[in-house]
Amino acid sequence: MRNTHKFGRMTIPMLIILYLAFTIHVTLANNYVPTEKILLNCGGASNGSDTDGRKWTTDIGSKYLSTSRKTIASQAATQEPSVPQVPCMTARVFYTNFTYKIPVVPGRKFVRLYFYPVSYAGLNVFDGIFSVTVGSYTLLNNFSAAQTAEALNFAFLVKEYSVNVDGQTLDISFIPSAKAPKAYAFVNGIEIVSMPDIYSSIDGTLKIVGQNSAFYIGNNTALENVYRLNVGGNHIPPSQDTGLDRTWYNDVPYVYGFAFGVTYSADLDTNMTIQYPPSIPSYVAPIDVYATARSMGPNSQVNLNYNLTWIFSVDSGFAYLVRLHFCEIQVYMTMVNQRVFDIFLYNQTAEQGVDVIALARGESGADKQIGVPVYMDYVVLVPNGSPQQDLWLELHPNVHTQPNYYDAILNGVEIFKINGTNGTLAGPNPIPAPRVDVFSPISYIPSSGDYKTKIRKAIVIGGICGGIILAIVIGFFLIAASHCQHGKNSSVRDVPSKCHQDLEQGFTKNLCRRFSFVEITVATKNFDEALLLGVGGFGKVYRGEIDGGATPVAIKRGNPLSDQGVHEFQTEIEILSKVRHHHLVSLIGYCEDSCEMILVYDYMAHGTLREHLYKTPKSPLPWKQRLEICIGAAHGLYYLHTGAKQTIIHRDVKTTNILLDEKWVAKVSDFGLSKIGPTMDKTHVTTVVKGSYGYLDPEYLLLQQLTEKSDVYSFGVVLFEIICARPVLNRTLPEEQVSLVEWVAHCHEKGILDQIIDPYLKGKIAPECFKQFTEIAMKCVADQSIDRPSMDEVTWNLEFSLQLQRNAEESNEGISEIHIKEEPFVPHKWRKNLDASPSFDGCGHLFSQEVMSQKLNVGHLWTGFF
Ligand SMILES: *[C@@H]1O[C@H](CO)[C@@H](O)[C@H](O)[C@H]1NC(C)=O
Ligand SMILES: *[C@@H]1O[C@H](CO)[C@@H](O)[C@H](O)[C@H]1NC(C)=O
Ligand SMILES: *[C@@H]1O[C@H](CO)[C@@H](O)[C@H](O)[C@H]1NC(C)=O
Ligand SMILES: *[C@@H]1O[C@H](CO)[C@@H](O)[C@H](O)[C@H]1NC(C)=O
Ligand SMILES: *[C@@H]1O[C@H](CO)[C@@H](O)[C@H](O)[C@H]1NC(C)=O
Ligand SMILES: *[C@@H]1O[C@H](CO)[C@@H](O)[C@H](O)[C@H]1NC(C)=O
Ligand SMILES: *[C@@H]1O[C@H](CO)[C@@H](O)[C@H](O)[C@H]1NC(C)=O
Ligand SMILES: *[C@@H]1O[C@H](CO)[C@@H](O)[C@H](O)[C@H]1NC(C)=O
Ligand SMILES: *[C@@H]1O[C@H](CO)[C@@H](O)[C@H](O)[C@H]1NC(C)=O
Repeated sequence: MRNTHKFGRMTIPMLIILYLAFTIHVTLANNYVPTEKILLNCGGASNGSDTDGRKWTTDIGSKYLSTSRKTIASQAATQEPSVPQVPCMTARVFYTNFTYKIPVVPGRKFVRLYFYPVSYAGLNVFDGIFSVTVGSYTLLNNFSAAQTAEALNFAFLVKEYSVNVDGQTLDISFIPSAKAPKAYAFVNGIEIVSMPDIYSSIDGTLKIVGQNSAFYIGNNTALENVYRLNVGGNHIPPSQDTGLDRTWYNDVPYVYGFAFGVTYSADLDTNMTIQYPPSIPSYVAPIDVYATARSMGPNSQVNLNYNLTWIFSVDSGFAYLVRLHFCEIQVYMTMVNQRVFDIFLYNQTAEQGVDVIALARGESGADKQIGVPVYMDYVVLVPNGSPQQDLWLELHPNVHTQPNYYDAILNGVEIFKINGTNGTLAGPNPIPAPRVDVFSPISYIPSSGDYKTKIRKAIVIGGICGGIILAIVIGFFLIAASHCQHGKNSSVRDVPSKCHQDLEQGFTKNLCRRFSFVEITVATKNFDEALLLGVGGFGKVYRGEIDGGATPVAIKRGNPLSDQGVHEFQTEIEILSKVRHHHLVSLIGYCEDSCEMILVYDYMAHGTLREHLYKTPKSPLPWKQRLEICIGAAHGLYYLHTGAKQTIIHRDVKTTNILLDEKWVAKVSDFGLSKIGPTMDKTHVTTVVKGSYGYLDPEYLLLQQLTEKSDVYSFGVVLFEIICARPVLNRTLPEEQVSLVEWVAHCHEKGILDQIIDPYLKGKIAPECFKQFTEIAMKCVADQSIDRPSMDEVTWNLEFSLQLQRNAEESNEGISEIHIKEEPFVPHKWRKNLDASPSFDGCGHLFSQEVMSQKLNVGHLWTGFF
């Protein structure tokens, strides 16, 4: 959908019609109908459905449990918020070797195993060490689900395998480790889905990257899926796959560094359709995978200087099948040699001169190549070395073919581990990283320009298994947090806290930590006013120390009498339990004893951004540091908008909600007003406008319809606040200057914007950097949301502007006084007249206005509808 924000002006019937049109479109694709689909809820007392609506059958009393060996069904001792009830809350525990014998027809199957590592039947979770075999293949060996989950910071694990079954039964054996005396095995869920042979090399030839030989993947090859990403698109749950019940994840956590490129989605509402060529069955990957993509960005000069890169941590000593999915979905990409690029895998050239249109022509033969999915397979040999290594996937424009655009594109990627010669797929358990703080987020963006590979590593390991889910259940915290109203009979409350149990074991667990009121009073010296950091709408914020003084924290104590507070408390926990990001403030835990509403966060040593801008005794921040802070905050917001399963709209972006840690890394905070979406539910249409004056999107104010572009507007105000170092509303000034945005727009129109910036910055900003920065900031505060860029584009432009500043400083000519000669600014015109004059991108490519607006669009279906 190109113009997602269109929904803002649509009526509900229109939306429903559009929705139906889209559904029909999707269901036209032929889904695979598996002959077998067995979902075993191991140890479950009854049949049940998971959060995706799939039905699981209990294994109790089933024909698969014929032999009465030493196995028991057990209930999980604790439940974490992100863990689904079915199949994770019950397990089957094996004290000795046990085999599920499942009758199937011969052929390939997906085997998915679910592990939720907590204590069962009073056993120690770290004694759960075991092997799993299917037929002659060893899927897991000396496997500790607890250690793996700990290292990857996941609450539970899903491992996906693809094996070919020759005989009439699929034998899955669980074998407790013989080396550990108290070892036992367990499993929470087993899923078997028969599958077409879509990953084998039919003609026996798969290219081995960096070698002149072929690799054969056939009936005797077993595969383990380690990554499956919908590049530039949203999370796709099993129910929305093509009948194969695969999960596709968003690729953001794997993109390297600041170079995120740009994401697109196909214009399914116009003529654009995704049409599978005859050679590619439509169940290879869902339409949604091909209908979204990531490319390098609009500036060829920039693209030539970097690689669009994803990093995947993999086990050493195995061969990997890498499948890359491509599809051109932009209406102006119709001809051969428009966009041609090279692919590198594991730092070796995998392919040169890839032209998706040419590939599509080869596959379909027809004259229509746009919207035609294609994929390419490579085998990468990762030699022995340290237990895990990083597999880099890099794309770079191909210059030799002199294409129209120096750019690259990718729509999806799947990576499979291939069994070793002795039939094993098992790798070593990953080692948990030493904890820096109690609650180490899955962060992935380095804090400043220098790419800190260490940070990368922590993150990338976080994604070692594509089948591992950090799934989120919204409801839990709502239940937990609303107990004050609903009495204390919530089962959640009665369960001993998982986190505390972990602490006793010397481990600290992700996601949440529950504090007692006593701990909080100790941490804050009984809410000593001397420790007060600030007072906000929600309540007071104190500085505190936990873990015997080892960890500084910020403790926010809500006013328990305010209904508003209860809602914001719940929203804050709900949002922060869903998202983890280097540029979002981390929630360490909460306390809800005696109807208190207390939240415990990482301590941010440098406080709020605003206190470094104006009305402050603190020294002014240098320009480059301000830019880095802008970029960090933009990354945080971009992640909120697209990185999580659902779009999250912050709704209260302002300089007091951007915090700075001891290394000056920007962290977006305060999610009390945030909205989760998108949803078709009528009741979620926002009618009450919330936010802060001076930052409020005028369109939202007027129409009371919230989109992520409202955040973009507020962020634009923040950008001007940073460069002008003045309050967004200052009623002591002459009338035309009271509102920062209006004053800035006025000065921009007159071409005198440089005269109203922070006097401290005068003469310190490179003119080209200033131009880039103010242009993107002006676009952010466009009156109409449709004219505003996405956070993706904002981030990219800010990075580019930082680069321009660096270049200027390096070229060492000193920064002369800014003197910008601007064209008078014509607000909001540039995208309106689609047939107006053409424009040029940075390197002389000709784009029509329509193409420009398309290039800049990155929306996803349904975003922006509330
Ligand atoms: C569970 O579902 C299976 C198959 O759908 C059925 O045979 C069985 O009776 C059900 N068991 C219970 C306890 O409902
Ligand atoms: C369990 O299985 C392993 C591996 O197949 C085998 O070595 C071992 O002897 C078995 N143990 C028992 C008690 O059957
Ligand atoms: C692979 O297995 C399938 C089903 O078991 C069979 O139809 C096919 O002939 C086998 N292929 C080869 C090359 O053995
Ligand atoms: C088995 O796993 C444990 C826990 O990760 C580890 O300490 C041990 O070294 C492993 N043993 C072997 C033989 O790999
Ligand atoms: C859609 O397709 C029709 C017929 O193929 C064509 O006339 C029309 O111009 C197309 N519209 C767009 C927006 O490309
Ligand atoms: C892109 O990646 C390849 C392979 O790792 C490398 O040789 C090349 O230098 C990279 N180019 C840039 C601009 O980083
Ligand atoms: C690939 O290149 C990157 C960047 O130059 C480097 O950090 C990484 O270690 C290389 N990987 C391998 C396997 O050589
Ligand atoms: C995978 O395992 C099978 C069965 O053990 C074996 O025949 C095959 O050679 C293995 N594949 C590779 C690539 O080693
Ligand atoms: C199979 O291969 C793995 C990795 O190459 C090795 O660790 C393991 O010991 C081998 N197992 C057997 C039974 O040879």
